[in-house]
Amino acid sequence: MKIITCALFVFLASSIVVTGQKKVYDIATYGGLPNGDITQALIKAWKAACTGRYPGRIFIKKGKYRMGDVQLKGPCKARSIEIYSDGTIEAPGDIALMHGAPQWIRVEYVNHFTLAGHGIFDGRGPAAYHHNTCSKNVNCKMLTMNFGFSFLNNSVIRDVTSKDSKNFHVNVLGCNNIAFKNIKITAPEDSPNTDGIHIGRSNGVRIRNTQIATGDDCISLGDGSVNVLVEGVTCGPGHGISVGSVGKFKHEEPIHGLTVKNCTISNTMNGVRIKTWPAEPGTISITKMHFENILMKNVSNPVIIDQEYCPWNQCNKKIPSKVRISDVTFKNIRGTSGTKEGVTLICSAGVPCQNVKLSNVKLTYRGKQVVAKCANAMPIVKGIAPACQRARRGAAAA
Ligand SMILES: *[C@@H]1O[C@H](CO)[C@@H](O)[C@H](O)[C@H]1NC(C)=O
Ligand SMILES: *[C@@H]1O[C@H](CO)[C@@H](O)[C@H](O)[C@H]1NC(C)=O
Ligand SMILES: *[C@@H]1O[C@H](CO)[C@@H](O)[C@H](O)[C@H]1NC(C)=O
Repeated sequence: MKIITCALFVFLASSIVVTGQKKVYDIATYGGLPNGDITQALIKAWKAACTGRYPGRIFIKKGKYRMGDVQLKGPCKARSIEIYSDGTIEAPGDIALMHGAPQWIRVEYVNHFTLAGHGIFDGRGPAAYHHNTCSKNVNCKMLTMNFGFSFLNNSVIRDVTSKDSKNFHVNVLGCNNIAFKNIKITAPEDSPNTDGIHIGRSNGVRIRNTQIATGDDCISLGDGSVNVLVEGVTCGPGHGISVGSVGKFKHEEPIHGLTVKNCTISNTMNGVRIKTWPAEPGTISITKMHFENILMKNVSNPVIIDQEYCPWNQCNKKIPSKVRISDVTFKNIRGTSGTKEGVTLICSAGVPCQNVKLSNVKLTYRGKQVVAKCANAMPIVKGIAPACQRARRGAAAA
């Protein structure tokens, strides 16, 4: 209600107004008009809002817009800043016009930041996917992601849509207490590296009531992800919800405290997964991972811990991963698996997984309960769960 009143007010007044304690900065006032390029208008509105005395709301009304890459940086004098957009904003399709920016829209060093509205942020990935050479070239050049939220505190992203990013959709780095609510992320099923939300070095990240359908992980947790809640998320197509891959580098930070609950994962390669690299120096721990009430529909690998993660065979699987995994619970996981081995627990021979629990894991493949493939893990079973089968010679399977 408040937003509607406010939007109407801006429309009528067509200039900068203060409603209550919020000052509204309409980008139209800064030359940002429908069917035009709003890059400079948004930058100007941000500067005004950020240096303002009042909490500010940057307003983008319904309409089509074009926008180049922007960096919206704090710290701000204003106690809070919101960007409220009902517009459809398109990025350049031509990668040269992204100026090598890591992200199209970068919001950094802000306390109390909000991105809201029913707007669509269209990264125009299909015009650029052919420039992604990462499946053939380890040192491939990264294309631009849609959003980078870095070093934000107490922030909220809600209701908006991120569409067809050229790379990951959202990268969360160094944030404390950030929530994603009711957002939508979409990209073609065959688009490369279009992960939904990637989290790293952040504490207190909540993702709720969100739909993610892309060509890669729906949500992924990199090193230093702490206290993450994923709830009411529908994921698929894509690669599922992943922790890792980690272990590749020496100076990684531990990952702990993940809860994934009440989620539906459909037609994806993986469901819920923890993956670490073998033969690499990383020694962090991954602990307190809790997956509960998850419905799988036609998921190839619904439950998987893979400590021999080695895409394109770039590593020596004989040297075990040094990443320690412990306190992992899979509870009330049900639905259909795309493979007979619906549960995979391949842990490290160097540091076997500790305290992995399977509790009411009812997954079927062609109408029959799946089997579990295990190595260096002795899961504690409660209620119904697939029995472990020895995965390979010498593996300490239960
Ligand atoms: C965010 O919180 C951290 C930790 O309390 C603090 O060091 C940092 O300055 C805060 N950043 C902003 C932009 O308020
Ligand atoms: C579970 O998530 C769905 C959205 O995927 C939501 O509509 C529903 O209310 C949630 N249920 C509970 C019990 O939280
Ligand atoms: C099952 O999922 C795969 C992707 O993992 C997809 O190609 C296939 O079409 C899906 N099958 C059905 C019946 O939806």
